[in-house]
Amino acid sequence: MLILGIESSCDETAASVSRGGREILSNVVLSQADMHARFGGVVPEIASRRHVEGICQVAQKALEDAGARLSDLGAIAVTYAPGLIGALLVGVNYAKGLAFSTGLALVPVHHIQGHIAANYIAFPELEPPFCCLVASGGHTLIADVRGYTDMKILGSTRDDAAGEAFDKAARVLGLSYPGGVQIDRLAQSGDPKAYKLPKARVDGAPWDFSFSGLKTAVINTVHSASQKGEAIDREGLAASFCAAVVRELVPSAVEAALSCGYGKLAVAGGVAANSFLRRALESECRKKGIKLYIPPVSLCGDNGAMIACQGYYAYLAGHRAKTDLNAYATLSIEEYKGDLL
Ligand code: KG4
Ligand code: ZN
Repeated sequence: MLILGIESSCDETAASVSRGGREILSNVVLSQADMHARFGGVVPEIASRRHVEGICQVAQKALEDAGARLSDLGAIAVTYAPGLIGALLVGVNYAKGLAFSTGLALVPVHHIQGHIAANYIAFPELEPPFCCLVASGGHTLIADVRGYTDMKILGSTRDDAAGEAFDKAARVLGLSYPGGVQIDRLAQSGDPKAYKLPKARVDGAPWDFSFSGLKTAVINTVHSASQKGEAIDREGLAASFCAAVVRELVPSAVEAALSCGYGKLAVAGGVAANSFLRRALESECRKKGIKLYIPPVSLCGDNGAMIACQGYYAYLAGHRAKTDLNAYATLSIEEYKGDLL
């Protein structure tokens, strides 16, 4: 069965056609990052307007690239939560109109479950149950993926998401938005021990994270150096920051994976593209005998393919949205109830 997946939760207008939950026939991503860069972050109203302008062309291109017509499709999957509400509504309304006019099933997809599904594309043999570390611009959590649409949160951030911390740290270092990939690049030639940055601990919740202290420490380091007229070792600070994020994420993810007992740890979300995180997870999982799954960098950020693939499994589970489907800015992966929409 062919599925058209539509994604518009943040600043990427994306569409993809998949065959089932594992095979991608097309994957079109129209990024708005350049437009938001001069504001130092995503401006929600601009994001919505760009989605409205781009969505028809992006969906058409996804069909063309796949060599498919609307009549070849079996379902339309769309991200309906979580994300920027005005941005989500564009994709939801477009998908609804398409489903209404074609009579195709409309499948509601949770964005974070979509990120997790990027692993199904990269690793055809991977099936639930497994443990998954999700680190994106808006969310950071460890999930027990019990089934394709049945997930339990084992730990999550108490404040900022990892990606948010990357973007804020990048900004104070004078790097443009989105900053994560630029910090990654700058850090390659830096000394990870150049600056001492804090490690958070959440009492009674060993797998929870906190990034706000780390973010503040980077900001304070830069500000106090500039007040004293001292130069910042930018490469060193970027490398120390990457090392601190790794210290925050890797031990919790590996311990959670061990305690689940599945012997499998998957990783998902934009921050999964980080080269330091990837290397640290590879080495730690090898030591602990855990099989690690990390999608290629091209599938870590927001895309339509992950929505089409997750949509396939939600479709198999009988999840359908009616024409009154709404979008939701916040909704945890545990709250997703695609069968009740
Ligand atoms: O998953 P994603 O594309 O969008 C959300 O759902 O939020 O994640 C975007 C986040 C941004 O904060 C971006 O800076 C971060 O992922 N990111 C990275 C890297 N590439 C993207 N963070 C660290 N290292 C990278 N290489
Ligand atoms: Zn995302």
